[in-house]
Amino acid sequence: MGALNGKVAIVTGSGAGLGRGIAQQLAEAGASVAVLEIDSESADVAAKELSETGVTARAYPMDVSQRAEVDDVFATVASDFGRLDIVVNNAGISRVGPHTQDVTDEDWHDSIAVMQTGVFYCMRAAGRIMLPQGSGSVVNISSIRGFSPNAGRMTYCAPKAAVIMMTRVAAAEWAPQGVRVNAIAPGVLRTPMWDADVARGAIDEEFYLDVVPMHRLGLPSEVGKLVVFLCSEDAAYITGSVHTIDGALTSIPAG
Ligand SMILES: NC(=O)c1ccc[n+]([C@@H]2O[C@H](COP(=O)([O-])OP(=O)(O)OC[C@H]3O[C@@H](n4cnc5c(N)ncnc54)[C@H](O)[C@@H]3O)[C@@H](O)[C@H]2O)c1
Repeated sequence: MGALNGKVAIVTGSGAGLGRGIAQQLAEAGASVAVLEIDSESADVAAKELSETGVTARAYPMDVSQRAEVDDVFATVASDFGRLDIVVNNAGISRVGPHTQDVTDEDWHDSIAVMQTGVFYCMRAAGRIMLPQGSGSVVNISSIRGFSPNAGRMTYCAPKAAVIMMTRVAAAEWAPQGVRVNAIAPGVLRTPMWDADVARGAIDEEFYLDVVPMHRLGLPSEVGKLVVFLCSEDAAYITGSVHTIDGALTSIPAG
């Protein structure tokens, strides 16, 4: 009997990386999973692999930054599965590298569209289904970059900080109706985004392996287990919280 048996979960960006790891952990805990992903190929593969673990999983190719797509897909998932208990807002992009004076309009707008507006669209769609139901758990994937600044990350830190405040506002609004909203702030994780940033020189992996007090990267499965806990009955009184999971990266002395 898993902690999330009978629950229905949406995970955005779950074709790869962290989202894939979160979806895997939710499935292991017994939840059915809707894979909302812009890349239809990886969405299909993820849904197939999740189904093989014995849960119901389906792929829904979509772009979280497109309001009409979000509203349509959330309604379709609720109708296909009969309910919606968990929404994990994970989809993200990395345009990190240039300092503020060199950031392009395109990188700024794309980053805000996916990681701030996209999270808002999905939170709003989730609330419209969960509030009448009188239950639900939303987990927003922020980052330590939502509160710990880093040069070259203007387009990334801004929406990640916004998501923390969006989490807290909605948590207070929805608490009376039994819908909880929390955020997770991961440190450095081994995912395709990380590997791509390392490969193009935007991140120095050796630096992080040295500076993270645990001297390793985090795993998507480790964040996935935290998501499972936050969505379980054991976390019934936890809402409006930001949960850092970073191997103590943001706990090192400043000087
Ligand atoms: N990797 C890290 O070190 C790290 C650290 C902290 C936070 N995060 C956050 O975790 C989340 C996942 O990151 P990741 O490292 O797994 O990245 P990733 O690039 O490996 O995976 C992101 C997934 O989201 C999908 N996606 C991108 N834009 C989308 C859109 N508009 N609509 C739907 N799906 C979309 C991608 O196709 C991909 O499958 C992001 O929000 C990221 O900011 C990552």
